Amino acid sequence: MTISIALTKGRVEKQFLQYLKSRGFHVEPLVEKGRKLLVETDAFTCIFVKGFDVATYVEYGICDLGIVGEDILAETHPDVFDLMPLPFGKCRFALAGKPEAVRHQRKRRIATKYPNVTEQFFREKGESVDIVKLEGSVELAPIVGLADAIVDIVETGNTLRENGLTVIEEIQPVTARLIANRSALKIKKQAIWPFIEKLQGEGVAK
Ligand code: PRP
Ligand code: MG
Repeated sequence: MTISIALTKGRVEKQFLQYLKSRGFHVEPLVEKGRKLLVETDAFTCIFVKGFDVATYVEYGICDLGIVGEDILAETHPDVFDLMPLPFGKCRFALAGKPEAVRHQRKRRIATKYPNVTEQFFREKGESVDIVKLEGSVELAPIVGLADAIVDIVETGNTLRENGLTVIEEIQPVTARLIANRSALKIKKQAIWPFIEKLQGEGVAK
């Protein structure tokens, strides 16, 4: 019985492959995949997709497991089993903007890739805002006047700094997480649980 994993392409991908290697998995076929989107190793089959699509592949049962940022789970609330945090992909949600920004009486306009997280954050604060949904590079929005501020994930803070923005308020920490298809956890338990145990290794948060 082969296990299938949906992996977020990009930063999380590199960190996950390093993590797999440290747990004794053979990662060469994954490291040398080139532009291939589906790769088989001796332990599992792996597909490489965008973060927002990882949960979709797992929810629909195409993949048994997924490696995805908590930011995406917070935004989309997919119907999957959230198994455990992973010790990488650590960043945080923050409200950010120009340091000199002054508060006007009018409604603030907030640009973000995460409209649901943003909506909830401002609802809890009791502030009504207009949300502009963007697909990326949201740090541009306050610079060119599309928005007063942004809600985004901040890792090193380099993108904010290099675009002259600063964190106004921290919202919540974010980490990579291991998710699973609910029925695969039962139907394929004999294959999945030993895999998860090997992945956890020693001293990994459960
Ligand atoms: C992410 C995020 C921030 C940046 C944070 O963007 O949206 O812009 O990384 O990382 P940092 O604090 O280390 O600079 P990404 O590069 O994934 O591109 P995108 O926003 O265009 O999708
Ligand atoms: Mg970005």
